Amino acid sequence: MAAMPAVTIDSSKLPALLQAMPKAELHMHIEGSLEPELIFALAQRNGVQLSYPSVEALRAAYAFSDLQSFLDIYYAGASVLLKEQDFHDMAWAYLSKCKAENILRTEMFFDPQTHTDRGVPFEVVIKGLSSACERARTELGVSAALIMCFLRHLSEDEALATLEASLPYKDHFIGVGLDSSERGHPPEKFARVFARCQELGLHLVAHAGEEGPPQYIYNALDILHVERIDHGVRCVEDPALVQRLIQQGTALTVCPLSNVKLCVFKDLKQHNLKTLLRQGVKVTINSDDPAYFGGYLNQNYLETAAALDLTAQDAYTLARNSFEAAFASEADKANWIAQLDQTFTRFAA
Ligand code: HPA
Ligand code: ZN
Repeated sequence: MAAMPAVTIDSSKLPALLQAMPKAELHMHIEGSLEPELIFALAQRNGVQLSYPSVEALRAAYAFSDLQSFLDIYYAGASVLLKEQDFHDMAWAYLSKCKAENILRTEMFFDPQTHTDRGVPFEVVIKGLSSACERARTELGVSAALIMCFLRHLSEDEALATLEASLPYKDHFIGVGLDSSERGHPPEKFARVFARCQELGLHLVAHAGEEGPPQYIYNALDILHVERIDHGVRCVEDPALVQRLIQQGTALTVCPLSNVKLCVFKDLKQHNLKTLLRQGVKVTINSDDPAYFGGYLNQNYLETAAALDLTAQDAYTLARNSFEAAFASEADKANWIAQLDQTFTRFAA
């Protein structure tokens, strides 16, 4: 665990520091950034009929009992996305937030099958998203990359077909992930497609240990060969697994507000993030599906820090972990960490 610059920062400054400090976001589903207002605007633009009468009624439906109850609404929300411009507008709204929240790097998940299964061509999805990423780099100075997720409730053959369709656009994404309904869809179901992605030189991640057992984390590491675990909070049920994550330096992309909304933890005070962090697990904070779970990245940092009584050193470790675990060049990471150090030094003054 890297020490922060040797400065003292008063705890009253922590909220401002959390907002101002440079950070990376490594676990955010771009379809989960669709705000109800944008869902309604796109529905009108595209002539799509929604089953909710108003923005307020839709937002009121955001009360979830588990992952599946959320996914049902999340896939319904994504049904308004039809044209390249829709994907661009959605991503641009999120990337503008990144700028405001001092997110220097974001690695955004997207779910092509949610769209191709509705007849939207892969090309439309990837072109809309990647033009927004390119625009973020030039207009906002935000470094943005895409990670293509396979929906684990569908078959491995469908994942393989999605990979095939993506190959003409392979330069537009940096890796693959595994999301959607976890229970009953273990990592090993996707062994062949992940092996193929590894051969192609793509980065590999997978959701594991959100609702699924520690064994799913082992299998994501040992069978899929992932480099980071998305969520992973159920690792605490297996102390040997926690030791392994520490020793290997495997990052967990933890999503505190998501975990509370989907009833993985009863409330933020019960969350195990601080325990894992203090044990030396490479924990990061992320927003998952910010439009659905009550806040973007800085809100996750603020509420978690307040609930768990985090210190400035904890904040530093979390932000530094986010850069170290990013799939970016060593030069970019060193540059971002230098900016992080500068912010901490400035806050102590
Ligand atoms: N878990 C699994 N699949 C998802 C999630 C999540 O939190 N968000 C969007 N797809
Ligand atoms: Zn997720």
